[in-house]
Amino acid sequence: MSEEKMVSLDIIDEQLIKKAEQEGIETMWDRKKAMKTPCGFGEQGVCCRICAMGPCRVSPVEGKGAQRGICGATADTIVARNFARMVAAGTSAHSDHARDIAHVMHMASRDGSYTIKDEKKLLVLAEEWEVKTEGRDIYDIAHEVAEVALNEFGKPFGTLRFPERAPEPRKKIWKELGIEPRAIDREIATIMHSTSIGCTSDAESLLKMSMRTSLSNGWGGSMMGSEFTDIIFGTPTPTVTEANLGVLEEKQVNILLHGHDPSLSEMIVMAANDPEMLKLAQEVGAEGINLAGICCTGNEVTMRHGVKLAGTFYQQELAVLTGVIEAVIVDVQCIFPSLTPVTDCYHTKFITTSPKAKVTGATHIEFNEAVALESAKAIVKAAVENYANRKQDKIFIPKSKAQAITGYSVEAVVKQLDRVVNSHIDSQGTVKPLADVLKAGVLRGAAGIVGCNNPKVRHEYSHIEIMKKLIANDVIVVTTGCAAQAAAKAGLLSKDAAKLAGKGLQAVCELVDIPPVIHLGSCVDNTRILKLVSAVAKFMDVDNSDLPVVGVAPEWMSEKAVAIGTYVVSSGIDVFLGVVPPVTGSKEVMDILTNKIEDMTGAKFFVDTDPHALTDVMLARIEEKREKLEQKL
Ligand code: SF4
Ligand code: FE2
Repeated sequence: MSEEKMVSLDIIDEQLIKKAEQEGIETMWDRKKAMKTPCGFGEQGVCCRICAMGPCRVSPVEGKGAQRGICGATADTIVARNFARMVAAGTSAHSDHARDIAHVMHMASRDGSYTIKDEKKLLVLAEEWEVKTEGRDIYDIAHEVAEVALNEFGKPFGTLRFPERAPEPRKKIWKELGIEPRAIDREIATIMHSTSIGCTSDAESLLKMSMRTSLSNGWGGSMMGSEFTDIIFGTPTPTVTEANLGVLEEKQVNILLHGHDPSLSEMIVMAANDPEMLKLAQEVGAEGINLAGICCTGNEVTMRHGVKLAGTFYQQELAVLTGVIEAVIVDVQCIFPSLTPVTDCYHTKFITTSPKAKVTGATHIEFNEAVALESAKAIVKAAVENYANRKQDKIFIPKSKAQAITGYSVEAVVKQLDRVVNSHIDSQGTVKPLADVLKAGVLRGAAGIVGCNNPKVRHEYSHIEIMKKLIANDVIVVTTGCAAQAAAKAGLLSKDAAKLAGKGLQAVCELVDIPPVIHLGSCVDNTRILKLVSAVAKFMDVDNSDLPVVGVAPEWMSEKAVAIGTYVVSSGIDVFLGVVPPVTGSKEVMDILTNKIEDMTGAKFFVDTDPHALTDVMLARIEEKREKLEQKL
């Protein structure tokens, strides 16, 4: 097959897709083909099914076809309403994840399954939230901080706490725009209310509401998810691992961890290392238990334990096609229902664990946080006992894997920067070296490349092309989610990749001892990017929007990505999309998102499906911001 015709940048994906064809197993590409041409109305966002007078689909072209739905809603209203609902759904996913983590912290105890691993981080947060710490047991403090956090979801008055962390000019912008986020659940409920039949029809109001709700995600739920996960399970430090389906082991029990919530996966890691489980594995003839991560769960466990990365969200079916997965264990989000028919073709057990994400045909073993380790052991046991059932004639483990360094929390990045501080006389623990190299132009800028995979584009091609072009132009890249896994597989998370960087970035990589593309974690960890950018902005006494930084989602697909993109723009950082969002049916919405929003927030959306053209615009925009910043400093 010629390279351009490949659906993936990765040759092993092609091999496994072929295996699926030979074995008559349907994958996402078969279903994509069967879909034929996507619905044009849906693609442009002009289809409304909010009430039973409809569904209505209006014409995106002025003066042609139906211009209004039965209630009178225009294309602008319908597109903006649909967009707002995507933001609300994405915010609910990240924030409900955070709520669960907050509950876990509330039940943490010295002798229980969940303990407090990063006491320092907890104490800093307690002080920030004015929770008394003096003379108190660390677990009492944890429980009170968890309670304060849980109140952030439904407090009747005031605004959220985390936005206080933003630079002063940013907070002023939010206040003036009236988009300071209030309680997280309230913002989601308000969008659902305002987008119901006969409520808000003004597109700009709907987009402002979307911005406020997205901020309750980025500076609310997601930030809580990230912070609390660090406190309970430890703040990540750089860890060497391997990535791609070549990490699967023929002679071991392979367990695939997929989903998002680390309260399950952390316990599975513990259970898989339990002597009782290892003994059981030997009894069934295996040499050990091999864990491999997919999607954000993969990022969470690799950051803290070096668990190998099997691959991206897009490879969840392909991993099963290797024939050596004893169990796919999932919690919430990004789980294909098709894992049931695919695992049915093998011996693989498909185990769901969350009441929030039950899948038809899967084995449901509910994970109980109150007896977390016991629950995890029962799940691991089911996987180990399945080892003997492998169908030997169906095994194919691709050889490909790459070395990667993962686990750069903001704290880890600052620690690395201390290496520079120590060689120049300065105080430790600041982002000064980063600010200095940005100011001096050694680094032209920074990019956060995030998000999913989408079969509308060639798998990983855009991620990798954009990353390579940016680092070659001295733009340092931080990455999360499936974009991070694409980088890991392509070898860009190794220090060796510095050879692909421009001279300035190369020098920084050498001095700070980091790869040119830095793994910052899972999708909720995009808030680490917000923290880092805000720290640099505060240090320079400017706003986020003054910095030469960009957010990029080359292969995005989920509602969560829409919420993320919106909070990133609302935080003053431009967002570049490689997949067109369903908003093109409204001139007004397009104009606001790609133009007018800049007057409000200092940042806007850019869209181009050609990754090279998109990167050119990014680089130009970075230089434009540099010029303005120079005048300001
Ligand atoms: Fe049609 Fe209006 Fe009902 Fe939407 S809300 S389905 S546009 S009548
Ligand atoms: Fe994710």
